[in-house]
Amino acid sequence: MDASNPERRLTLRQRIFDILEHSRRRDFASRVVDFVLVVLIVSNVAVVIAQSVPEVAAEYGASLLAFDRLCVIIFAIEYIARLWVAPEHPMLRGNGPTMARLRFAGTPLMIIDALALLPWLLEVLFPSSVLMPLTRLVRLLKLARYSPAIATIGRVIVSERRALLACIIILSGVLLAAAAVMLAIEGREQPERLGDMPKTMWWAAAMLAKIGGGETEPVTALGRIVAAITVMLGIFCFALPVAIIGRGFYEEIRRRDFVITFAMVARVPLFSKLDAGAIADLVGILRARTVTPGTTLMRRGDRGDAMYFIASGRVEVSTETLTLYLSEGDFFGEMALLSREPRTATVTAVSSADLLVLEVDDFLRLLDKLPAFKEHIQEVAKERREGNVQGS
Ligand code: CMP
Repeated sequence: MDASNPERRLTLRQRIFDILEHSRRRDFASRVVDFVLVVLIVSNVAVVIAQSVPEVAAEYGASLLAFDRLCVIIFAIEYIARLWVAPEHPMLRGNGPTMARLRFAGTPLMIIDALALLPWLLEVLFPSSVLMPLTRLVRLLKLARYSPAIATIGRVIVSERRALLACIIILSGVLLAAAAVMLAIEGREQPERLGDMPKTMWWAAAMLAKIGGGETEPVTALGRIVAAITVMLGIFCFALPVAIIGRGFYEEIRRRDFVITFAMVARVPLFSKLDAGAIADLVGILRARTVTPGTTLMRRGDRGDAMYFIASGRVEVSTETLTLYLSEGDFFGEMALLSREPRTATVTAVSSADLLVLEVDDFLRLLDKLPAFKEHIQEVAKERREGNVQGS
């Protein structure tokens, strides 16, 4: 079965693409490069903090500056290399090299990388800008590339955007109402502090967020009641988005042991011929699962609820009569979903493996949507069934 995944002869550009962008967790070079870049980013941020302390800057200023320059050079090389390999990206296939690079430069992570280089440019143009520490700390955002959790927060915010927008509208409504009521009640009593809407809005925001506002105490009884209600509403208004994001975050983390990338899906031979839109859909549908050696993924006779694609690693398939191995690029678990009969084999991981899981509902939807996928899966399942019959 490993023969279905012939070794590719890689060009230098493809190899660098693999190392920089594909992030195969079992690729040593890719892990080393990721590790070095993460250490540099974190150290660089530490250096920015240290440089802002006058005593440290006086003593170690020259070394810290040299380190910062070194980081800039490495980040610049990294940026140029990422641009250079962009035409290898499966999502940009079909574009000419220049177009692919331009489009790649516009992706969020590349914009962050470009911003991370900006302080250096600012330093050249405006040598003593007060914004320097702020712009340099943008480099911390580069970590988004290496942290599934940060990428997950982005996805959660996008997927919960309607609920979050509702929270913002509720919060704005409460803020304006509290400000208007306070202006009506206390506007004349304390004109210097609560005499107009901007002033009472600031007071309402401080009360809602519980960040103080204590220095502007209402002097009337009614004003105090309104203040108390505002504080309580504040707790509700802030708890709501926190709960929404918290729940979404938990769901996402549970669903994904690792971030499924476009390149990862495009590498599965079965999907490699799909267009970019279909692959992007799959990235959203597939669930990631990492397993340790010895994990039993399914047992013969079980009911089928999902099929699996192997992104990396190796599994053993044990039918009634045969034992065979599947590895990167192969899939399994399709037969029970197609026939709606019990699993025909027990499948166990023999190495650590990263798997892409396709749940049965999504599987059935894909069969309808992608005739080539259906045909290929049916063909492989038929061959496997015949192989099992002959083996017995
Ligand atoms: P399913 O029957 O759903 O669950 C067990 C899986 O093992 C099965 O789907 C196939 O994906 C896989 N399998 C069964 N027999 C073979 C075979 N002869 N060769 C490769 N894979 C197999």
